[in-house]
Amino acid sequence: MNRKSIAVLTSGGDAPGMNAAIRAVVRTGIFHGLKVMGVKKGYEGLIKGEIFEMSLSSVADIIHRGGTMLQTARSPEFATPQGREKALNMMSVFGIQGLVVIGGDGSFRGARDLAAMGVQVVGIPGTIDNDIPFCDYTIGFDTAVNTVVEAISRIRDTTSSHNRANIIEVMGRNSGDISLYAGLAGGAESIVVPEVNASVEDVCKRIMHGRNRGKLHSIIILAEGVGGAFEMAKAIEDKIGVETRVTILGHVQRGGSPTAFDRIMASRLGARAVELLMEGKTSRMVAQYQNQIRDFDFDEVLTAKKGFAGEIYSLARILSI
Ligand code: F6P
Repeated sequence: MNRKSIAVLTSGGDAPGMNAAIRAVVRTGIFHGLKVMGVKKGYEGLIKGEIFEMSLSSVADIIHRGGTMLQTARSPEFATPQGREKALNMMSVFGIQGLVVIGGDGSFRGARDLAAMGVQVVGIPGTIDNDIPFCDYTIGFDTAVNTVVEAISRIRDTTSSHNRANIIEVMGRNSGDISLYAGLAGGAESIVVPEVNASVEDVCKRIMHGRNRGKLHSIIILAEGVGGAFEMAKAIEDKIGVETRVTILGHVQRGGSPTAFDRIMASRLGARAVELLMEGKTSRMVAQYQNQIRDFDFDEVLTAKKGFAGEIYSLARILSI
């Protein structure tokens, strides 16, 4: 009997730890006697047949690297039924019987559509945004938070020297999690996220409160989903006359060597994804949820809304006063 063949791809925005997940999928698959293939550039590569067999050594020396050795893409063609048909045909040309998709919610929507066409698919949450329901932390989130915290410390030094305020715009699309966690860990005076209606007046009040008790700096973390960093800086200067600079961290947050936390989670999820395929499961996301490795139906994941970490928000406000 032929060996079962599975494939792995990374899709959407890359995230530190994706390589560790690829490595785990490949090595666990080979350990269990499967043939494992890699798909380049996400669903785009699936459509175009950019598919190659992977070996134990093709994933050597990547556990510590950011980015994704398989590369990634956002594929408009795959979002169409014709694009997905092409991908399905290519999978049968290469004899792929199961697929592991590492990515965020957009990638999972694609994976669910493939599953509905009869393909066996399992998803692993890989995105810095931490915006996936039934998932404590997405792969890459911890690394991104650490990158932002380091940036806050550097910016705090110069902000204190000049007795200024600094607005630091942080990624996360419509989710404020990177802002919340990095804001708490970095001791930011204000955290402005899409999930909470915050006013410039509140930010100004907190700046003045800090200054009046001798604080030399004011750090405002602003989630990109809120936007308007330069307008906010101007409003602060107009209202309270505090010189305010803006730092947009951008893609620096998406790169770099993954933290041990991200590598460990990626390794565990990659291994479990292969087991799920071997158990015949499909249309499921594997994630750490409530501290356990569990799996959930894509439909359930894609219809639920991730809860807001309100206790982190409140705590950060209390502690940075
Ligand atoms: O989803 C990850 C993410 O980095 C978001 O935080 C951000 O909004 C988006 O991707 C940026 O996408 P791109 O790299 O395509 O500009």
